[in-house]
Amino acid sequence: MAQEVRGVIAPGKDEPVRVETIVVPDPGPGEAVVQVQACGVCHTDLHYKQGGINDDFPFLLGHEAAGVVESVGEGVTDVAPGDFVILNWRAVCGNCRACLRGRPWYCFNTHNASQKMTLTDGTELSPALGIGAFAEKTLVAAGQCTKVDASVSAAVAGLLGCGVMAGIGAAINTGNVGRGDTVAVIGCGGVGDAAIAGSNLAGAAKIIAVDIDDRKLEKARTMGATHTVNSKDADPVEAIRELTGGFGADVVIEAVGRPETYRQAFYARDLAGTVVLVGVPTPEMKLELPLLDVFGRGGSLKSSWYGDCLPSRDFPMLIDLHLQGRLDLEAFVTETIQLDEVEKAFERMHHGDVLRSVVVL
Ligand code: APR
Ligand code: ZN
Ligand code: ZN
Repeated sequence: MAQEVRGVIAPGKDEPVRVETIVVPDPGPGEAVVQVQACGVCHTDLHYKQGGINDDFPFLLGHEAAGVVESVGEGVTDVAPGDFVILNWRAVCGNCRACLRGRPWYCFNTHNASQKMTLTDGTELSPALGIGAFAEKTLVAAGQCTKVDASVSAAVAGLLGCGVMAGIGAAINTGNVGRGDTVAVIGCGGVGDAAIAGSNLAGAAKIIAVDIDDRKLEKARTMGATHTVNSKDADPVEAIRELTGGFGADVVIEAVGRPETYRQAFYARDLAGTVVLVGVPTPEMKLELPLLDVFGRGGSLKSSWYGDCLPSRDFPMLIDLHLQGRLDLEAFVTETIQLDEVEKAFERMHHGDVLRSVVVL
């Protein structure tokens, strides 16, 4: 039987979000209904509300979530009712060229639940990133659920569903940061701080944090940064070179998504180093570079998509490291809030006051 629960809706472009009653159908074949316990507030939710992603309003927001599987549809074997799970954006097929070549994050046949959640008048909702978890319950494809150790707090677990995974994965998966490496992270919001924590975990010798906000640099130190550079006061490329014996960093992670920081990342790497781009630019942004500089530098230039993560491999591993006290995920949770406080959380995010506000249900 379909159920009525509360969820946070973005009704139209730039309109304030609000809590509404939503209808969650029973899970169909390959689907699961999850009782949401926590869901982080991410920039992407704000972009949905602003109409920056697409115009399929109304959206059911929220996508950094963890909870307990309530029921599963026909044919679901990987998860069962009662499992504590972290949700990911899309189930992958396991069978296409990308999946078979070990890069399922580029899967060509990803899917979400095929049934729709609706408002009580029958209006279909578009769940943010195929999740829609600012809600007491949500309907997803069973392949979007990854079972993890249930002794972790839901607020912490949910963060791995998006921003924190993107940052840690940028360091350990895409950048392949190794013991003794020098790393520079440009932009120390939630994603950059996670890249710092990931680099620390991987055994980097030096981790240079770059930001334009001293508050962010202070926080970055607590995440494992060994050096900080305020790029309002100093040229970050010069500063990174100086701190790395004149060479540049082995791995530079860009976590802002702007032309000037893409440029800094490009020039701040060691000649054989790796640039990892995790900050997402907007369609009109461009960067002009002398081709001789592009040609003259070896190493590699990579973008990181969802931290190039394999949820079934990476989520349980990172939760284990957290439970052992080797990765502090609590540090990313600035505050916990209620469903009806999401609009306020967007404001605080806009002012740079929080790493993550997490809705706890
Ligand atoms: N140079 C250095 N740091 C900058 C600059 C700049 N020119 N401009 C902004 N920043 C800093 C901000 O001060 C802030 O600390 O970048 C950080 C961005 O952090 P958040 O706004 O919290 O964003 P976050 O959630 O970390 O995401 C960063 O990664 O996955 C992408 O879409 C995401 O593009 C976004 C980026
Ligand atoms: Zn596939
Ligand atoms: Zn997100």
